[in-house]
Amino acid sequence: MTGSALGLAFDDPEFEASVRAGLAAIETALQVAVRSDDEFVAGAASYLVDAGGKRFRPLVSVLAAHFGDPTRAEVVSSAVVCELTHLATLYHDDVMDEARVRRGAESANSRWDNSVAILTGDFLFSRASNILADLGPFAVRLQAQTFERLVVGQIRETVGPADGVDPIEHYLAVLQDKTGSLIATAAQFGAHYAGVDSSVAASLREYGEQIGIAFQLSDDILDIASDSAESGKTPGTDLREGVATLPVLYALRSDDAEGARLRELVSRPLTDDAEHAEALRLLRVSPALDEARATTRGYAEAARATLAALPDVPARAALDALTDQVTARTG
Ligand code: IPE
Ligand code: IPE
Ligand code: MG
Ligand code: MG
Repeated sequence: MTGSALGLAFDDPEFEASVRAGLAAIETALQVAVRSDDEFVAGAASYLVDAGGKRFRPLVSVLAAHFGDPTRAEVVSSAVVCELTHLATLYHDDVMDEARVRRGAESANSRWDNSVAILTGDFLFSRASNILADLGPFAVRLQAQTFERLVVGQIRETVGPADGVDPIEHYLAVLQDKTGSLIATAAQFGAHYAGVDSSVAASLREYGEQIGIAFQLSDDILDIASDSAESGKTPGTDLREGVATLPVLYALRSDDAEGARLRELVSRPLTDDAEHAEALRLLRVSPALDEARATTRGYAEAARATLAALPDVPARAALDALTDQVTARTG
């Protein structure tokens, strides 16, 4: 499915039509951006675009742009840059995670192989760079800084916390960099290119940063709590890869029998199917899952608080509603 599965309800038909028009323009530009004269490259690059996705970052850009003039062409092209960057990281992430399913379809590494998935991700980055060149140095630099944070976050997740660093603090900092960074930039680009004044754009950026953390925390909870029909991915991928997400870190703090058994299980990548199923079962009934939901709500509330400084336009109410949708995902 394509489009925002986060199904926002709108009360203002004119605003709704404008948001939909913005998303449709981004969708068309995204399709154009992944075209290639090489038939194989075109197929591999459009593969995940066509498989669907929530288009969360485009939605954030479009809503941020509604604090100014959302019809400016650069709003569309900068949103395409963010979604292409996100897409490219998904091709790469599935190689790193050895994931088999993405957006309800076979992952690219599974459909083809790791080399094709990595190179297709690189192709998408090159297309994003091409669009950035037209946007100019402001966009090139912001994108470079964003991408640096995303990559450093991903590296820190892979390496894990240094000795003496609290694993929960480490993990939350990782999320801010690997996911909050790009969603913050999606908001900033939308605002900037819509001509929004810089203090409003800064608040929107901060909204993106905070909602981005909540969004990733929801994803991590869904990895444990949902089935693949809901997530379009294979449940328990993080566990299988030995990535201790927040529910796991919370569960490990408890010294009851379940906590002890989980500690034993998650101290290594869980490649054994029976052990993997056991860990998922333990986590699904663990109070840690609700604790992680509470933390997610905390970040969502921090996102909501940034909206208070913004002018009272329909986009502000929509961002407020989006905040609820992000936490509602985790049940
Ligand atoms: C997946 O992102 C990776 C995370 C940052 C959680 P999305 O959940 O936005 O994936 P799509 O775009 O909807 O497939
Ligand atoms: C996605 O993280 C990678 C980035 C945000 C860069 P995840 O590994 O949690 O994403 P999914 O669950 O595979 O979509
Ligand atoms: Mg992954
Ligand atoms: Mg995940």
